Amino acid sequence: MRTHKCGELNTQQLGETVSICGWVHRRRDHGGVIFIDLRDRAGLVQVVVDPDVAETFAIAEHVRSEYVLKITGLVRDRPAGTINANMHSGAIEILAKDIEVLNESETPPFPIESEIEVNEELRLRYRYIDLRRTAMQEKMKVRRDVTRALRNFLDDNEFFEIETPYLTKATPEGARDYIVPSRTHENSFFALPQSPQLYKQMLMIAGMDRYYQVVRCFRDEDLRADRQPEFTQLDIETSFMDENEIMLVMEEMIRQLFAKVINVQLDAVFPRMTHQEAVSRYGIDRPDLRIPLELVDIAEDMKDVDFKVFSAPANDPKGRVVAMRVPNAGELSRKDIDELTKFVGIYGAKGLAYIKVNDLSAGLEGLQSPIVKFAPKAVWDSVLAKTGAQTGDLIFFGADKAGIVNEAMGALRVKLGHDLNMLEGEWKPVWIVDFPMFDWDEKSGRYNAIHHPFTAPSCSVEDLIANPAAALSRAYDLVLNGTEVGGGSIRINRTSMQQTVFEILGIGEEEAREKFGFLLDALKYGAPPHGGLAFGLDRLVMLMTGSTSIRDVIAFPKTQSASCPLVSAPAVVTDEQLKELGIRLIKPAGKEKVKQA
Ligand code: AMO
Ligand code: AMP
Repeated sequence: MRTHKCGELNTQQLGETVSICGWVHRRRDHGGVIFIDLRDRAGLVQVVVDPDVAETFAIAEHVRSEYVLKITGLVRDRPAGTINANMHSGAIEILAKDIEVLNESETPPFPIESEIEVNEELRLRYRYIDLRRTAMQEKMKVRRDVTRALRNFLDDNEFFEIETPYLTKATPEGARDYIVPSRTHENSFFALPQSPQLYKQMLMIAGMDRYYQVVRCFRDEDLRADRQPEFTQLDIETSFMDENEIMLVMEEMIRQLFAKVINVQLDAVFPRMTHQEAVSRYGIDRPDLRIPLELVDIAEDMKDVDFKVFSAPANDPKGRVVAMRVPNAGELSRKDIDELTKFVGIYGAKGLAYIKVNDLSAGLEGLQSPIVKFAPKAVWDSVLAKTGAQTGDLIFFGADKAGIVNEAMGALRVKLGHDLNMLEGEWKPVWIVDFPMFDWDEKSGRYNAIHHPFTAPSCSVEDLIANPAAALSRAYDLVLNGTEVGGGSIRINRTSMQQTVFEILGIGEEEAREKFGFLLDALKYGAPPHGGLAFGLDRLVMLMTGSTSIRDVIAFPKTQSASCPLVSAPAVVTDEQLKELGIRLIKPAGKEKVKQA
């Protein structure tokens, strides 16, 4: 149908007659001459229609935005002064000989311009139009480049791509399952996988040695900018590699990925940081290391001060008191600080004490703050020394249960880093290691697995039973600019250890058999030492394209409320379908009241 793509034409085709197909991006009538910018995936080209080609001109007069055209014409130089250096085809234009309207278009619900802000619901409803925008086409291209580069690396390194089932049994990754009724097994349900975790472990037991899969995962959880109910993982598992070996190979893969796809050279070695250090210094286990702000513990200084807000958590083993120095932020106004106080309130902080260091050499006189009066000079001298404060700085304080302080001050750190333009460096990857095995859930009164229940501890069965709270796991997360882009672990490969972990998690023998009997069996038949990880592919592409949401790098994402406005899913199903599946709804569609059985 066509000889070239619109966006690829340039001076190389000068003098040639070409045929191109695409959408009318813009049509301008310059009194006598009509200009059409024709667009396809490769980009735009300018077409000129002269009135002396009467039949063609008549057609051009009637085309509208987004009509689909085939145009045949001569490639010629643009007149001097009209060259567009920003366009690949900006030095040429096509003098139209023939125009064929391949299809008409109604006026699109929004313009096909990347710069114009459009309501997201509308964008998703007309996603096929939204995806015509250059910015979206570019994101899809980066996504294609990313999966291709990752596959190439893994293929070269002897990983097998193997598919695992979507209709399966619950795989615990901490979210709710999407369940699928079975017509052939009445009262039974499949679950869509939250990850292929157990299948990939089976593949290692099966001797597949190295596996990967670009795979969809399904999690019914609260959505955020970096979370979708169905998302894509690059899922990986290996045998006979320890965590250090796995991290090194993965680092190399990510370095090559960034170099190939976006021409970015990442660090030659990714730093590693323990979970404890990350939480202590940044309040979070996925620190954005571009931000040069840190939390400094000052509980020791605050144990005996005259200010309950500080002294109470300082004396509480579950409390935390921190200071965070913000260089040169002394100019923040009362109003700014009030705003920030509101901000930390979202995370449960009851206030945001501060000290403005007006003059470091002037003792207490040089400090401006509502809290200086509550403690003697020696206390503030110690705090100033610990934070490294200088004249002109602002110091913020957080005091409460450790969880609240970490969340509130961690979030404040990120907000200030961005608001005050403090980011240093463009890409800061870091491995977080030595996670605790479990955390204690106050509500349910039991332990939760921090990673998942198949993660190996770094201690023996005996030590694990003796002190579960102190046990560390052999898990590792890759964090990039404050986003967790991947995570994994060395797995348990012995039945006795797996049973112990289930017991600590409060999963009794019977439940363990019912849910994971197949795993407990498989571990008995020569399960090799194995481990792996999974990257969030959408998150990687989001970061690499500078997008603010993973929805922008997924062709057909769900909304914040987990629905698809394009096809209107989820939707009601017919009574016949329900009957066949043996399902009766508690509240049938369209009925207000619960129907009595
Ligand atoms: P995990 O649950 O940490 O580990 O998931 C791995 C990576 O997947 C991405 N991710 C998500 N991306 C978008 N939307 C979501 N709802 C979402 N949830 C997770 C994150 C995360 O780092 N089976 C283990 C991996 C392993 O141990 O090998 C797992 O799924 O980037
Ligand atoms: P108050 O004495 O309650 O007016 O508080 C004095 C200062 O301490 C104010 O700047 C409050 O914002 C701050 N503040 C109160 N509670 C906390 C807290 N839990 N952590 C940090 N600062 C606090």
